[in-house]
Amino acid sequence: MVNDQDRAAAMAQVAAEIRVCTTCELCRTRTQAVPGEGPATARILLVGEGPGWHEDQQGKPFIGNSGKFLSELLASAGVSREEVFITNVVKCRPPSNRDPMPDEIAACAEFLDRQIAILDPEIVVTLGRFSMARWFPGERISRIHGQAKRDGRRMIVPMYHPAAALHQGALRPVIEEDFARLPKILGEVERFREAEAMKSREEPRIQQQSLF
Ligand code: URA
Repeated sequence: MVNDQDRAAAMAQVAAEIRVCTTCELCRTRTQAVPGEGPATARILLVGEGPGWHEDQQGKPFIGNSGKFLSELLASAGVSREEVFITNVVKCRPPSNRDPMPDEIAACAEFLDRQIAILDPEIVVTLGRFSMARWFPGERISRIHGQAKRDGRRMIVPMYHPAAALHQGALRPVIEEDFARLPKILGEVERFREAEAMKSREEPRIQQQSLF
């Protein structure tokens, strides 16, 4: 992806395809699809589970109670909601907020893959077990929450779903502490990306030197 304009156009194209998608059964019961929201230049991507009632009505992710809490968590970590991209594993609301089914997650995975490829985010934050399962299959959130794992050019950070912390007060300080680590993790990614960029600038020079 060459420039910011191309990125924004590519994200808009994915969103347009999501809005008319009929690949799985969820299209029959949705009011509207919820592609995701945020700048195409976002350094942090947050991936939730699926739209709830409010999101389905308005076509935007995380705008209900857990969305408000998510904005607070980001703000307390010094990150504004406007600078991150927020989406979900499934882009259409499962009826009565039931769990998304494996075939629905699989049908929607291509959209998430494309969003990740376009954004090339430094950090992916997973919110809840369905997005965690994509990068940490078989893991338990109580064991790995807040622990960043490197995945190629980025870090994946599994977090509790904000709704879980709203329901269980004891999780509140835990999720707050986990979010507070984000700036440090961004710094780590910046350093390893810079080291890699330096290496790729050096390599042609070293190869040339070894010719003589
Ligand atoms: N919960 C989610 O996982 N995603 C939303 O968009 C809203 C609530």
